[in-house]
Amino acid sequence: MFALTGIGHLVTNDETVGQGKLGVLNDAAVVADDAGNISWVGKQTELANHFDGKPTDVGGRAVIPGFVDSHTHLVFAGDRALEFESRMQGKPYAAGGIKTTMAATRAASDDVLAANVARLASEALASGTTTLEVKSGYGLSVRDEARSLVAAKTATTETTFLGAHVVPPDTNADDYVALVQGEMLQACKGHAKWIDVFCDRGAFDVDQARAILQSGAAAGLGTRIHANQLQQGGGVQLGVELGVASCDHCTHLSQLDIEALAGASATTVATLLPTAELCTRSPFPDARKLIDAGVTVALASDCNPGSSYTSSMPLVIALAVINMGMTCDEAVWAATAGGAQALRRTDVGNIRVGSRADMVVLDAQSHIHLAYRPGVQQVSAVIRGGKTVVGVL
Ligand code: NIG
Ligand code: FE
Repeated sequence: MFALTGIGHLVTNDETVGQGKLGVLNDAAVVADDAGNISWVGKQTELANHFDGKPTDVGGRAVIPGFVDSHTHLVFAGDRALEFESRMQGKPYAAGGIKTTMAATRAASDDVLAANVARLASEALASGTTTLEVKSGYGLSVRDEARSLVAAKTATTETTFLGAHVVPPDTNADDYVALVQGEMLQACKGHAKWIDVFCDRGAFDVDQARAILQSGAAAGLGTRIHANQLQQGGGVQLGVELGVASCDHCTHLSQLDIEALAGASATTVATLLPTAELCTRSPFPDARKLIDAGVTVALASDCNPGSSYTSSMPLVIALAVINMGMTCDEAVWAATAGGAQALRRTDVGNIRVGSRADMVVLDAQSHIHLAYRPGVQQVSAVIRGGKTVVGVL
């Protein structure tokens, strides 16, 4: 058992215990049990009734739930720094760059892939991410997708089969879609919790995406979709039709797309990925408009070597507030409870009794500082499953 006390500003994401949507409590304390779950949350003056050891005093700092990054592509080898450099000189971003990473990924050993995943997962943890979704999608063959998912499993249980990222070179699209639905799905389903399709220009169309997602669902996988990143299209509406957990990107939306997402807000989350917009110089989605229409919005990093080579959820939050019209409260909720909802989890992304004791101690007085001080390292310590895994408390 352990307890944190002296928490000047505690974000619980539990409206029943504190103020507002973030359920903020001041001068608070949290107790975790030996299984690493939260057993009590309340005012620090009441801590003695719930804990008889020596609590750790965080000296008035803010504590928030660990970030839930519900969209990453951490399994790859090599990088695409030169592509980034030429993009910054005016070359547009296109789905085709994925093939460069495919070649490097296929050539890498299992150990190299797992080491890359471990390096990026620990980078994410250092900036406060305690739950991570990881996709395959740079193998694009039966063997390489399956071993990509084995590498993903070394870092998380939230693994996603993205064989339908792009059609690999020298392959007929119809044959590849059949392979993804057939042999590749059979080889991958035991290593994956989710299936995803990149439904966009240069990747898969709506009919192909529907067929692949339906096959995945029939094989027992949860569904999610990359939709409307590069242009308007039918991806979001397909996602809503199929009841996917999350439509991700949502960069180019029509009014009908927004209405569809709003109507499905209890089932399907819109996950926005502002660092992908930043790093591809694309327009930021209007999160304000989505939230005002009633859409449930999550925020994630999309960490990958092409469009968004960052794992920093604090940066994601800052961009969402500064460029996308989200309030500080909405952005922090979206990066924690919103990400959890995108993964259909209730045991992470909040600081409630029974949830996993995943918390970030900030070198700041409140969660507002995450957006107010962009790019500044303000994570003082990270606790996951009740253990301090970053920093010293
Ligand atoms: O989510 N959109 C598709 N996939 C990734 C990018 C992959 C890449 O460029 O390597 C994304 O942005
Ligand atoms: Fe992505």
